[in-house]
Amino acid sequence: VADELTALQRNMVAQVRARGGARDERVAEALLAVPRHHFVPDLPVEAAYQDEALVTKRDADGRPISSSSQPTMMAVMLEQLDLRPGQRVLEVGAGTGYNAALMAHLVGPSGAVVSVDIDTDLVDTARANLARAGHPEVRVVCADGAGGFATAAPYDRVIATVGVWDLAPAWGEQLTPAGRIVVPLDLGGADRSVAFEWSGDHWTSRSLLPCGFVSMRGVLAGPQRTMVIDADLSIVVGDGRELPAAAVSAALTGAPAVHPTGVLAGPRDFFEGLGLWLAVHEPRRCTLSEAAAAVTPRLGRAPLAIQDRRVTTGAADGDSLAVLLRPAQAGEPHGLEACGYGPRGDELAAGLATLARGWQAAGRPGSAGMRIAAYPRAADGPAPSPDGLVVDRPHTRFVLSWPAG
Ligand SMILES: C[S@@+](CC[C@H](N)C(=O)[O-])C[C@H]1O[C@@H](n2cnc3c(N)ncnc32)[C@H](O)[C@@H]1O
Repeated sequence: VADELTALQRNMVAQVRARGGARDERVAEALLAVPRHHFVPDLPVEAAYQDEALVTKRDADGRPISSSSQPTMMAVMLEQLDLRPGQRVLEVGAGTGYNAALMAHLVGPSGAVVSVDIDTDLVDTARANLARAGHPEVRVVCADGAGGFATAAPYDRVIATVGVWDLAPAWGEQLTPAGRIVVPLDLGGADRSVAFEWSGDHWTSRSLLPCGFVSMRGVLAGPQRTMVIDADLSIVVGDGRELPAAAVSAALTGAPAVHPTGVLAGPRDFFEGLGLWLAVHEPRRCTLSEAAAAVTPRLGRAPLAIQDRRVTTGAADGDSLAVLLRPAQAGEPHGLEACGYGPRGDELAAGLATLARGWQAAGRPGSAGMRIAAYPRAADGPAPSPDGLVVDRPHTRFVLSWPAG
């Protein structure tokens, strides 16, 4: 049995490495040392060692609110965090406790790990899981992670393992001056895992990678909302406004108003560049996702396939929406089409096509070479306005830029 377990663990680490995670030997060693199946005790052991996110809790509407994240994503973020033996670390989002255990392994007996979760039941199971896996020293606390955990501060590292919409002032206050913060930053439907360090009067990104996480709840929750339109289709609405599901569903079955964009973008350009551009520029942004197995597909020409779903992005306003789709005629480089549905679909599609062309004209900016500066917003005094794309959140002004070279 021990041999089988070792084989499963090695196989998982091989999958993680094949996908670009765990290049750091210490992270690979932690993945081999901490048994993941102790953190998902309700699943078969084999399932625990797949390189997949495992949902452990859903809300009343079936949306995931807690999971053990995909091991590759965890490995990548642990590399961004760059933990050393003896360090003190705060995690926001204890979930199953697995990542906390990996961190406990990395900081060793002279370090300390505190992990916070907002749900009491999750805290109880994380504690039990950690004890079973041989890491009872991890301190698991039930609290809204927006407040950090001042009692055990200061920390050398702070990591959020839940999608954050804003940087909580408490995280910076509870960090040592040379410390580092790693967060999955939700830039409006386009998530980037960002490692931040303090430089003078703001946080500067040191590394930045695409990712996807469940969203933070509590006082720092963003406005976005997931609307389940029907069994096959769901829409994430960036500004959180309610959409009339029946009207949207009906609109999507009609013939669209088509605006060719002239912009060619493959899945990678779309995921890393155009999607981020739209997220930052379109306040009514939305992301549509449809089951690939849908009987009557409405997003058959969606530019992205993520796991078993087709995904695209656009803008929604009440009973109308517009999305970007691949051109109907295959084989010719026509570029993406902005397709509008419902009474104001034409107008929304025209706006979407203009934004797509704006991305092209700006040099098709994407994650590669992007920097994010994060300025804590003071209640008094003017907000800094360096060059770049500004994304304002209640506590932070984020400025995205693409330094030359
Ligand atoms: C993707 S899971 C974390 C996975 C976890 N690190 C692991 O290894 O299993 C995200 C977690 O964040 C928690 N969460 C959401 N909002 C929170 C908040 N405001 N404060 C603390 N935890 C929060 C959720 O309850 C959920 O358990």
